[in-house]
Formats: sequence, structure tokens, C-alpha cells
Amino acid sequence: MPKSKEKQNKYQSITEFYDGKSIFITGAAGFLGAVLLEILLRCFPGIQAIYILLRSKKGVSPQERRKETFSKQLFDELKKTNPSALDKVHVVAGDIALPNMGMSEEDLLKVTENVTMVFHCAACISFFKPLRYIFQQNVGGVNNAIELCKKLKHCEIFVDTSTAYSNCNHELIVEERIYGIPYPAERFLEYFDSVHNHENAISQANSKLKLEIKLPEIPLPVFRGRYDEWPSFKSQFDNVITNNNDLCVSESQKLYYFKASLQGDAKLLEAVDDSFESRSSQH
Ligand SMILES: NC(=O)c1ccc[n+]([C@@H]2O[C@H](COP(=O)([O-])OP(=O)(O)OC[C@H]3O[C@@H](n4cnc5c(N)ncnc54)[C@H](OP(=O)(O)O)[C@@H]3O)[C@@H](O)[C@H]2O)c1
Repeated sequence: MPKSKEKQNKYQSITEFYDGKSIFITGAAGFLGAVLLEILLRCFPGIQAIYILLRSKKGVSPQERRKETFSKQLFDELKKTNPSALDKVHVVAGDIALPNMGMSEEDLLKVTENVTMVFHCAACISFFKPLRYIFQQNVGGVNNAIELCKKLKHCEIFVDTSTAYSNCNHELIVEERIYGIPYPAERFLEYFDSVHNHENAISQANSKLKLEIKLPEIPLPVFRGRYDEWPSFKSQFDNVITNNNDLCVSESQKLYYFKASLQGDAKLLEAVDDSFESRSSQH
């Protein structure tokens, strides 16, 4: 390249830099992504196209969410001064946590052919979601964004947005650089998976155990709901179940026997979240 041309490229303006660029943005419906989208559209008229990855939310489709995004006050100035800029924005339905960001084959082809810059702004910023979910969104999402960049035919730049809370385990001053982690990220995911599988196995074993517990068959007195029959039923039931020291059963198992004793109108008195004590003392 001739020296003068090289110099010209080195010091090109930001506006020139964006000329002809096709950009992919995740999280464009969010706080940071929307601001970025507005600045790009307003300040860099040479941008060729912007693809925004949006997912459906609460029954609202990605296309509808594009409209919602542009209805924000943030875009008022742009809509007044250069409304046709919005036509450059193409919606791609997807989800950052999925391979290929959940894009259809058609969209993936369009993106890999055209996009040269990726801004990854989508993230789960809630501290209240389960850690595994946050990991899948924020670590898995970055990973999927990097994998997408590898597939782009002409990838020039990948920008990932992070947060002040990253690297909080380091010294008071956190520098703007990538810190190493003690294990490869996949190890964390494997760990979450193993905890998840372990919890599943325990809950499956528990429900199996519950199914396998068989209560001893005992001839039970019957109560059909007549008020005058209650004292005699109650005393028989107490003898057979409530005060029967030979019968080792829990309160919930006593409730099971109690419910089995109810017939006819008495059955209508049952409630789902009964306790044995409340039922047997109520009548
Ligand atoms: N806000 C700030 O001042 C600030 C400052 C520094 C850094 N950051 C960083 O910038 C990033 C974005 O922050 P923000 O404040 O803009 O958050 P935000 O308003 O919650 O926006 C996040 C966006 O990500 C999208 N998203 C989340 N999970 C997704 C998924 N699985 N698939 C597709 N889209 C998904 C959300 O889409 P839905 O609308 O569909 O949920 C939302 O539009 C974060 O990494 C944050 O730490 C933010």
C-alpha cells in the first residue's frame, strides 16, 4: 500500500471508519444497546446495515419489539432529522444463550455474509436469578457471540460489554484488561451441570421413595358427614389410628387414613392443604 494511503487509513475519522459497515448488535432493546443503536444511526450515516438480535418476550414478537424500541423517546430526534435511517435496521430473531444465537439458517447466512462488526450488549443483569442461568446467559452468551464472529466471512471487530462488577475478587483497582480465571469457563458449566444433575437425581429418588411407601391396610371406621355419628366415629378412629402406639405413622399418613375414612357428604369437607390435626379437631 502506498505510504500516503496507509497514513490516510491510520488516521481516518470515526465517521469514515463506519462507512459501508454492516453491524450486528445484541441487546438493542436494552438500556445500553438502545443508546448504542441510536448513536450509530444518528452519527454515522455511512453505515450500510444494522442487524439487531431480539427475542420474543411476554408474547411480543421480535418485530413488534423493534417497533417498541424505536418508540422510545431516545429515538425522537433521529426520527425527526433522518427517519430513513431506521430502514437500515433489520431484526434477527434469536437468543444469545443458544448455539448460533438461535438464528434461523436464513438469518445466519445473511449475518455471516454481511456483518463485519459485532457489539454484544445482551446480558442478564439481574442478581436474583439462579447462578447457573446467569452463567449460561452471560458466559455462554459471550461464547456464542465469539463463535458467531468466527463464522463471519469478514469479521473485523468484536466488542463485548462487561460490567464494573466483573473481577470483584481482585484488588481495589481493577484495570481495563482481561484477567485470567483459575479454570477454563467450561469447567464452571460442567460444575453447574453436575450440581443440577445431582439435585435432579435426589428429587427423582425422593419421589420414587414416596411412591414406594405403602401404608399398612387397616380396617377403618367410616364417617358420612352426619353430625350425630361424629362422636362415635371419632372415638373409633382415635383407637385405630390416632392413639394407636403400635402404628408408626406420621401426621401426613394419619391424614391419609382420615381422608380414606370419609365417604358421601363428608368427602366434600376435604381441602387440599389439610393437616391431620386441623381436620380431626374441626368436626
Ligand atoms: N446500564 C449500564 O449503565 C451499564 C454500564 C456498563 C456496562 N453495562 C453492561 O452492558 C450490558 C447490558 O446492560 P444493560 O444495562 O443495557 O441491560 P438491560 O437493559 O437489561 O439490557 C440487556 C438486554 O439483553 C437482552 N438479553 C438478555 N438475555 C438475552 C437472551 N438470552 N437473548 C437475547 N437477548 C437477551 C435483553 O433482552 P430482553 O429485553 O428480551 O430481556 C435486554 O434487551 C451488561 O453486560 C451490563 O453489565 C451496563
